[in-house]
This record gives sequence, C-alpha cells and structure tokens, in this order.
Amino acid sequence: MTSTLFKSVITLAKTTAVAALIGAAPVYAADAKAPGSLTVNVDQAGAVINRDIFGQFAEHLGTGIYGGVWVGKDSKIPNVRGIRSDVVKALKDIKVPVVRWPGGCFADEYHWRDGVGPADQRVKTVNTTWAGAVEPNTFGTDEFMDFTQQIGAEVYLSINVGSGTIKEAADWLAYMTAVAPATAAMERAANGHKEPYKVKYLGLGNEMWGCGGPFTPDEYVTKMKTFAHFVHNHNPEQAAPRIDYAAIAKDLMTGKQMDSLPANPNGMKRVAAGPNSSDPSYTETIMKAWKTRSPIYWDIEGISLHQYTWGPMPFQEPATDFSEAQYATVLLHTMHIEKTISMHSAIMDKYDPNKHIALIVDEWGVWLKPKPGTEPMFLQQENSLRDGIVAALNINIFARHADRVRMTNIAQMVNVLQTMIMTDGKKMVLTPTYQVYKMYVPFQDAQFIPLSFDAGVYTVGNLALPKVDAIAARGKDGKIWLSLTNLDAKNAVDIPVNVPGVKAKAARGDVLTAKRFDVINTFDKPNEVTPKAVKFKAADGKLMISLPPHSVTVVQLVE
Ligand code: AHR
Repeated sequence: MTSTLFKSVITLAKTTAVAALIGAAPVYAADAKAPGSLTVNVDQAGAVINRDIFGQFAEHLGTGIYGGVWVGKDSKIPNVRGIRSDVVKALKDIKVPVVRWPGGCFADEYHWRDGVGPADQRVKTVNTTWAGAVEPNTFGTDEFMDFTQQIGAEVYLSINVGSGTIKEAADWLAYMTAVAPATAAMERAANGHKEPYKVKYLGLGNEMWGCGGPFTPDEYVTKMKTFAHFVHNHNPEQAAPRIDYAAIAKDLMTGKQMDSLPANPNGMKRVAAGPNSSDPSYTETIMKAWKTRSPIYWDIEGISLHQYTWGPMPFQEPATDFSEAQYATVLLHTMHIEKTISMHSAIMDKYDPNKHIALIVDEWGVWLKPKPGTEPMFLQQENSLRDGIVAALNINIFARHADRVRMTNIAQMVNVLQTMIMTDGKKMVLTPTYQVYKMYVPFQDAQFIPLSFDAGVYTVGNLALPKVDAIAARGKDGKIWLSLTNLDAKNAVDIPVNVPGVKAKAARGDVLTAKRFDVINTFDKPNEVTPKAVKFKAADGKLMISLPPHSVTVVQLVE
C-alpha cells in the first residue's frame, strides 16, 4: 500500500466513522414494532430512476481485470478476443448499463499509451497502489471498449488528472473518438477500430483529496477547470454543439444571464471528483465555482461522491460467521449514506436548484476483512446474503434521490470488494449482490412512485433499525414494481399493500433469502443464495405480501 492511498483510505475511514457517530439516525433504544400497511401512491409519480444508478466499477486491482474479465486470447477458458465468456454472459443478464474504468486510485497513475497497439510490444508497468503487482497492459483501451460492447454497457472513463497532463488526456479522448483523417483516428483504425468509440461519462480524476492528489478543494478546482475545458469528445454523435456567437451576442446585448450553452443531449458528461463521504468542502467549492463559471470555457455535468460501508472498524468487519448484532450494525452503517446524500444535495440545491448537476456515487459498497489466503491489497472478500441486503438498501436510497443521483458504480464488478462475480481460474460464482442486481432490472429507467408506509422497528440489543424498507416504481413495461426488504433476522412479516385506483389481483416475482444472513455462494455450492419465485394472490380485494426474515422480495403487481 502506498502511503498516499493509505492516508486516503484512513481519511475516508475517519470521516465515515465520525459520520456514523454524529450522523444521527442511528443507535437508539426503541421497542420492536411491526410495520403498518403500505400504500403505493400511483398518482404521485416521481423522478425516473436512471438505469445508470445500476452501474459498475472495474479497476486494475487484484484479479478485478486480469483473471476476472481478461484471460487472454490463448486461454483454455472460453473467451471472445481474450474476454471471458461466462463473465460476459452473467453481466449481460443483469443489463449492466455503464462501467467505470480504469480506476480508482489506479486511474491517476495510468498512462493510456502503455495499453494500445500490438500486444507483444506493450510495456509492463508496476501497479504501485495495489500490491506492486506487475501490470502487463494487455487489457487497455481497445480491450475495454470491446468488453463494454460485448456486455452492452456505456463507458465511464476516469482520466489521469493526478499525475498526467491535459495533453495526455486530450490525446486519449482523440484516440477514442476522433474521425479520419485526424491522425488519432488513423492510429485507432490501424489498431483495428475504424469507427469512433462513445464515451458517455468522463471522470475528472479520482479522490483528488487523497490518492489522486492530494489537493485542497481550491487547488483541485483550478486544475479540474482546465481538464473540463480542453479534453474533448470528437465523436460526431457526442460532440458539443458549435458555439453560436450570434446568439451569445444577442444574450449579452439583452443582459440575459447565460446559465448554460445549448447542449447535445447525447453529449459526454463531465464528472468532477467530489467529496469524501460526509466532508462538504469539495461539494461547496466545486458548486460555488460552477455557479460563477462561463459555460463557454468550462462546465461539468456531475460531481462524484465516495462512501463505503465499513462497520465499526474499517476493513475489519467479518465477511462470514458474524452475529446478529454485527449484521444489524453493518445495515445501520450502510443506511448512513442517506444522510450523506441529503447533505450534499442540499449544498448543490443552493447553487443549482434546477438540478443540472448530478450527484454520482461512483464508489460505494461494503469493505470487509480480506478473504483468508488472499493478498490483502487485492481486496477480495466473501459476499453474503447480508451484502445483498446492503445492496438493496442502498439502491432504494438512490432511487429516493433519483432527481439528483443519476449514476452510481458499486465497488467493484468482479473479484474485488462487494463484487457481483467471483472467479478462480475457470470457475465462476455469482454473489448474493449479483442476485439483487438481477432482481432489480425492472427498476432501470422506471418512474419512481412514492410510498406511504410505517416501516416498523427491528431491534437488536440497543440498536434500532427500520424493520422493512421498500420502494415502488412504474417500469418501462408499464407495470408497477415493488421491492421490499425485511431487515429483521428473526421474524417474518406480512404487509398489506394498497394501491388506490388500481385493482391489484396478485403480485408475483422473486425472493432472495437463506437460512442465515451470513450464507454465501461458493464455487462448490453456487446456489445457496439464489432468487426463488413467489406469488401472492389478493383475497377479498386485499393484497398481502409475506416477507421471510432477512430477505429481499421484488414483485410486479398483476392488475
Ligand atoms: O475501490 C477501491 C479503492 O477505494 C479505489 O481505488 C479508491 O478510489 C478508493 O479509495
């Protein structure tokens, strides 16, 4: 671990720990209480739950890329152009909308030229952040683009602001997006890719208060503005519209305040590296600068937020064999992200009441004790039913903030932290977190529907949590979808569901649960935590949904 990353992670941990202490919601004595009935307010549709909220993050870290995604063209593991086919199929099944790459801390030390051109001529570098592993650079820009095309996802590229130059980043975007006869386009074509790629999101550095710098908020803004100004997407479908000076002159003559330039709706969205958990300083400084910017010269469309769930001690929380109190503590900690999002949203509202700028939670998830026998800096950990519940609780919070939170990227996609998929050689297993993402597919681009609901109280010792958490949305299929999580580890619960104006005859879908909250899927027993079909029929016009202990249920209403 480099000292920079160590400091960065400790800063993140300290801030989160403080947030846990002063973040209010938390530890209070209350009596256990059953939840009340749940009303789906179909007449009050809210924001669209952007499908990018279900985004992934893939860093050059441990076996996240090498082994997890890339096995090489000559591997015996079935692959297409070096990318493993079992992982591609699994990711297609959860309809991954977008992948953030190449880091993380790795991104601010990545030099893209090391990873393009003939594979046998690529240099080997040292991954200083992650255990000093040798980085063969065999998975570079063209391989990443191939991977995203194979799984049908958009691209979120994190550029090197920390140790790279503006020219290096601008040249990288030109390599990816320019058209012939630009030399950059010819170079890409010579490497086998004539058509320009699309880059939907551009991350302007990563954790610039930590491993990406460290910079004070003011120092970062000065640097960030120049990257936002000079790094262009040249793909004709994504390029910014030409500046119409005649229109600008008219605005200037009439004294009209220019808030933004005409935008290309398919244009690339620039994401400033934002706050560390509940520290408001980056949000405040970036938003203040944005408010007084001249959009001709620089602009951004998003600010990132990183917040991990550690439990009481960073990196020490057991991933398996934990008690009910430990289970409840992690759930309580993960729900603190609600306060963090509300706090940053309130700052953003001051400067941007119309919500032009998105809050992008591009790193989140549980960060637990490393899996025994693995390199600790490869950040491999087991993934239990509890972690699936953590995923559901976070997604529900993001959905409730869908007007401001328009992308999130769980850390990370394969073999790292709260992963979707684990691999070992040719073996692959899907985690409980993966299963939750699969169950939530109908919520991608669905329209949020507010619920009226008394969640009840689940107590463990002196901890008190909501007993049930729930969201509803109208899917793109026109159906009303509900997700209900029973946090209570001991008691099942029956919830009467009312949908005024809708005759709900039944609800059907899937439930994810297991004998205990710490059950995991393994290579030998891959189906210990997998969704099972459920159906609830209305009786006498009343619909009741039954939730087993520690479970996530996703159902559609049958009218
Ligand atoms: O996801 C692991 C690391 O956590 C990332 O590289 C960094 O951005 C964060 O500190």
